Amino acid sequence: MNRKRFVASLGLITGGVLSGYSNLRNGPVPGTGFTPGNGVDVWKTVREEFSFPEGFVYLNTGGIGSVPRHVRSLVSDEWFRLESNPTPGHDLVKWNALKKDAAALLGQGVEASEISLISSATEGINIILNGLPLQKGDEVITSTHEHAALNIGLLNQVKRKGIVLRTFEPDRNSGLNNVNLVENLINKRTRLIFFSHRMTTTGQLMPVREIGNLARSKGIWFALDGAQAPGSMPIGLKDWKVDFYTFSSHKWVLAPRRTGVLYVTREKLDDLTPVTVGAYSDNGFNLAEGKLDYNATSQRFEYGTQNELLFLGFHASLRYINTLGISEIREHNEHLSELFRTGTGEISGCELLSPEEREYRSSMITFRIPSKTLSGVMDAFSKENIHVRPVGEGGLNAVRVSFHLYNNTDDLDRILACIKNISNS
Ligand SMILES: Cc1ncc(COP(=O)(O)O)c(C=O)c1O
Repeated sequence: MNRKRFVASLGLITGGVLSGYSNLRNGPVPGTGFTPGNGVDVWKTVREEFSFPEGFVYLNTGGIGSVPRHVRSLVSDEWFRLESNPTPGHDLVKWNALKKDAAALLGQGVEASEISLISSATEGINIILNGLPLQKGDEVITSTHEHAALNIGLLNQVKRKGIVLRTFEPDRNSGLNNVNLVENLINKRTRLIFFSHRMTTTGQLMPVREIGNLARSKGIWFALDGAQAPGSMPIGLKDWKVDFYTFSSHKWVLAPRRTGVLYVTREKLDDLTPVTVGAYSDNGFNLAEGKLDYNATSQRFEYGTQNELLFLGFHASLRYINTLGISEIREHNEHLSELFRTGTGEISGCELLSPEEREYRSSMITFRIPSKTLSGVMDAFSKENIHVRPVGEGGLNAVRVSFHLYNNTDDLDRILACIKNISNS
């Protein structure tokens, strides 16, 4: 079946890939001189902003995003300009403008003063875990599907402070049941609940609003590893009562590597001691008097010389994402991932591991072919020039496919054909 007939046969021909354009807002797509309008294939133009070679299928945005062409040019031009008169420090006007837009990305009511610009989700996780006054015997609830970044960060606290970890295996059949799983682990020693907003293993979305309410009602800190969410879906941290949130913008926001965000709600700012500090962390200090005032905002978690070029790139990528529209991007991505689910459902021997419930699944879909070894499956993808990610976490032995704004139905056809071949071989 050719692609058009395949898509039409699923009754989705008028879905996101073909209908989202009319909703696009905010004028021209940066760097392209192109203003989206009715009936224009904006996603085709978007694809041209990236440098994927002909025949290569990139389906691992959950691992790392690709930076748009115009953002790379901007960073490179700016680098040349800056090197003509090297100046220490960074432009605080631009820096704070980025914080304002990063705050907006995290939902209504989030303020720039609650944002610090950091290198990655890994750094954010460490700032949270090292900064909280956790003590020997304090309990932290997390899931068995976390990325190494959170596992290692938590185990470091076990080693350093003697905290105790309590884990739940995410319920993939009933998303809401995860609230009960968390609640069952709470006792009077529980100080922190910390897991992923969107699971790296299966793309599962967690019931964060319900768990946020639960944590707040019990006086427990609630932190989310958001590495996989911003840039792919709308966020509402205030609404969900999240105390601490961190993400890497080099994934779904398509920013240069080593750019990320930490959010600390203003009400809990003083709960978190800044551990790594330096110039910019303070609001004044005096060595003779032994006095140090932390910066009054989340800037207190920033320190020393920054690579502001990367953050200029981050801001340009974020503007690009905002111009296309988060909801439109989500619609586009999930249109592809829904087609992918339906397509894999028709391949015998292919088992889907991502949630069945619409509300809890997303544009990252995980599957396995139980009759084949994971290394054999990965080799087959590699031979076909298709980049996907193996999932070892949670003992899944599976493959994760991420769909983002540069992916299209040709990519979909290629991966479905490859899975079919692997299953039949
Ligand atoms: C859920 C999750 N947390 C943290 C990370 C680590 O991201 P980084 O290496 O950008 O800090 C990843 C990376 O894939 C992830 O999926």
